[in-house]
Amino acid sequence: MRYSNSEKIYEKAVKIIPGGVNSPVRAFKSVDKTYPIFVNRGKGSKIYDEDGNEYIDYICSWGPLILGHNNERVLKGVREAIELGSSFGLPTKMEVELAELVCKCYPSMDMIRFTTSGTEATMAAVRVARAFTNRNKILKFEGCYHGHSDSLLVSSGSGLLTDGYQDSNGITEGVLKDTLVAPFGNIQKVKEILETKEVACLIMEPVPANMGLINSSKEFLQAMRDICDETGTLLIFDEVISGFRVALGGAQEYYGITPDITTLGKIIGGGYPVGAFGGKKEIMDMIAPVGRVYHAGTLSGNPVAVRAGFEMVSHLLENRETLYKELEEKVIYMTDSIEKIAKKYDVPIKINKLGSLFTIFFSDLDEITDLEHVINSNTTHYSIYFNTLLDNGVVAPPSKYEAHFVSVAHTKEDLDRTLEVIDMAFKKIGETNGK
Ligand SMILES: Cc1ncc(COP(=O)(O)O)c(C=O)c1O
Repeated sequence: MRYSNSEKIYEKAVKIIPGGVNSPVRAFKSVDKTYPIFVNRGKGSKIYDEDGNEYIDYICSWGPLILGHNNERVLKGVREAIELGSSFGLPTKMEVELAELVCKCYPSMDMIRFTTSGTEATMAAVRVARAFTNRNKILKFEGCYHGHSDSLLVSSGSGLLTDGYQDSNGITEGVLKDTLVAPFGNIQKVKEILETKEVACLIMEPVPANMGLINSSKEFLQAMRDICDETGTLLIFDEVISGFRVALGGAQEYYGITPDITTLGKIIGGGYPVGAFGGKKEIMDMIAPVGRVYHAGTLSGNPVAVRAGFEMVSHLLENRETLYKELEEKVIYMTDSIEKIAKKYDVPIKINKLGSLFTIFFSDLDEITDLEHVINSNTTHYSIYFNTLLDNGVVAPPSKYEAHFVSVAHTKEDLDRTLEVIDMAFKKIGETNGK
């Protein structure tokens, strides 16, 4: 595989964009590559880089592309919307239609507000929770990522973990002291913190997917719901990844637990910039211009982006009976086969999976249930895995702390080709182990 065009573009990029990328997880540093591939286009399950290389893609834009790249229905909607204008700074009918559609899929939301990113959605959700409860502190879990607003960049996951740290510089002491942290799964610690009754909200990924995929459970989520109720704390489910992915109605539908506020992003915009937060009417009525919690955005509810989201969510709703089952079957087929390959070459792995998401941890532990386990998994093995796949036309996440995303567009042929390449990767890993 030749990457010379990507290399040349990177040489220019790195002089003008920090690290050559506009979001750190796009850099390939943690998988021992100096520069990433620069993508030229995508269609279905495939992306094509600036050297003309074709790859089966398991990043899928980090989640939004559940229907694959440039899905025809989404593309048609976007083309129609573009013809009507790019942005008005005034409301459009499609915002209301997408709002109704999303609230139908998420009955916990009486009302919803659109943003342009998941980061803005979680930032606004925390602000409204503080106003509603009249409390300053918030609680999050270690290794969960909720975007890059100041108060949520504490013990964070995703790109920070990949780069080997968890707390960003440039955040004031005051902000830091108001963000409390507990290990995921530790009910006792959450109880102790929330019983102080000083905490406005517990914000959590109901299924953590930013330290690799970590399994959740109905019992744990129920315990979080109960403790929040007992202590007057709002429960925020950050479903930016899990929303419309683990089920149409997200993790809250899958596990049957209702949060007070939900945040969404990624799929809700069909691959275009849309985020959202929503919840009970009495909470959402605190937002300006009804109440005095300010949230705004020049491009919030952008007409082209909401049309893309509308088409994607409509497709998911219309096909929910078969679509989620088929995605899950693809993941089960992949992960069962990967486990067999690992056995063949004596490579210790553990796979966590849910719906169309999975993470391979190179670890000999029986279970990967928390951040510590993930940190201790084998980074060198992950790097061999990633690079062998890349060199043979498959893009896996360039970090052991992320999930693989499978889309409707991935065919049986794609999956089988991927498994052939994984066989090559595990063979190499087995050989480095002296086997
Ligand atoms: C769970 C979760 N919340 C929030 C965000 C932030 O969303 P965005 O990158 O759109 O700002 C992400 C991004 O990956 C996420 O995974």
